[in-house]
Amino acid sequence: MTVEAGKKMSIPITKPALGEEEARAPFDSIKSGWVTQGPKVAEFEKAVAAYVGARHGVATTSCTTGLHLALASLGVGPGDEVIVPSFTFIASANAILYTGATVVFCEIDPRTYNADPADIEKRITKRTKAIMPVDQIGLPCDIDAINEVAKRHGVDVVEDAAPAIGGAYKGRKVGSNAHQTVFSFHPRKVITTGEGGMITTDDDALADKARKLRAHAMSVSDLDRHKADRPIIEEYHELGFNYRMTDIQASIGLVQIRRLDELLRIRVEKANRYDRELGRIGGLAVPSVPPYATHTYQSYCLRLTKDAHVERDELMARLLRRGIATRRGVMASHLEQVYRDRVGRVALPVTEDASRTTMLIPLFAAMTDDEQTYVIESLREELDPAS
Ligand SMILES: Cc1ncc(COP(=O)(O)O)c(C=O)c1O
Repeated sequence: MTVEAGKKMSIPITKPALGEEEARAPFDSIKSGWVTQGPKVAEFEKAVAAYVGARHGVATTSCTTGLHLALASLGVGPGDEVIVPSFTFIASANAILYTGATVVFCEIDPRTYNADPADIEKRITKRTKAIMPVDQIGLPCDIDAINEVAKRHGVDVVEDAAPAIGGAYKGRKVGSNAHQTVFSFHPRKVITTGEGGMITTDDDALADKARKLRAHAMSVSDLDRHKADRPIIEEYHELGFNYRMTDIQASIGLVQIRRLDELLRIRVEKANRYDRELGRIGGLAVPSVPPYATHTYQSYCLRLTKDAHVERDELMARLLRRGIATRRGVMASHLEQVYRDRVGRVALPVTEDASRTTMLIPLFAAMTDDEQTYVIESLREELDPAS
């Protein structure tokens, strides 16, 4: 009997790994009355920085605002160019636009879906101020090669590691390999604080600057003002933002970061099973992980190859009818109207092909073996009905 003819399941694309401990975690912050940018945020910043092996963590309201803050701290602004892959969630490029700088899209490596260092180098001009590589879907980019390009041309690197907390490059944790790295704690990510983000860096001056800019560029922090034994009148010397994380979120994050390694172990185990079983189905290509990378599998990304006898969108529709949620792989940002208007036409054939042929299938820590079997067998029936 086929799985379709058997019991139909309902499988979401993801479920955040939140439990009793996370539900209880904000209690102390709420009772204390210090609910934003206080001791829990400071503790969470230290915990994330220690985990990734960086000197500083600067918590923000999201990865998007973290990317904006990282660029603003470098002084990126109008007249500057920042190079970013188009094959990414639109937030990466948007953060560049927020600074007034120009977005320059680069091409990806078709095997990893991450920025191609040689293509980045071709797009560097006198106006290039920074490169923003992305650890797409949780696979760390080739950061050594990108750092070398950046060094050769005297430009900065801000790594968009939204999906990659816990990932590693040549054994070094993501978050310790670029001048600044930015993570997301959105519920689609491996660990979550509801919304939230964090910059990690070894650069004391940049961390200070980011801390100041995230709180309206106020000359004194709330904590220092609170501790002072005399009234302090603060000053504002430049334009800042309100990108403060709450202590409610940080308390949840403190539980999540303690669980991170175990959550990653479960995800890798499930991804390995997908690799083994889906890799045998004609028409499907499973993710390619270079020897330098440790993947977080924030999502599991499949590609339909030329011999697949069904189009990606049709396959997604058929899986949905079976109760399986999927998402298109990753967007090609340069094709969206907002970037057609601002950047114009750019030829990025590898990106466009990857965006047309990839899709994400369910993967989350609480996914049962039966649920995973149902996804695998459904894909086998749709793509290889004779088997
Ligand atoms: C590569 C990438 N960058 C940035 C973001 C934005 O993250 P946030 O929702 O925390 O702003 C995402 C979110 O999905 C992402 O995947």
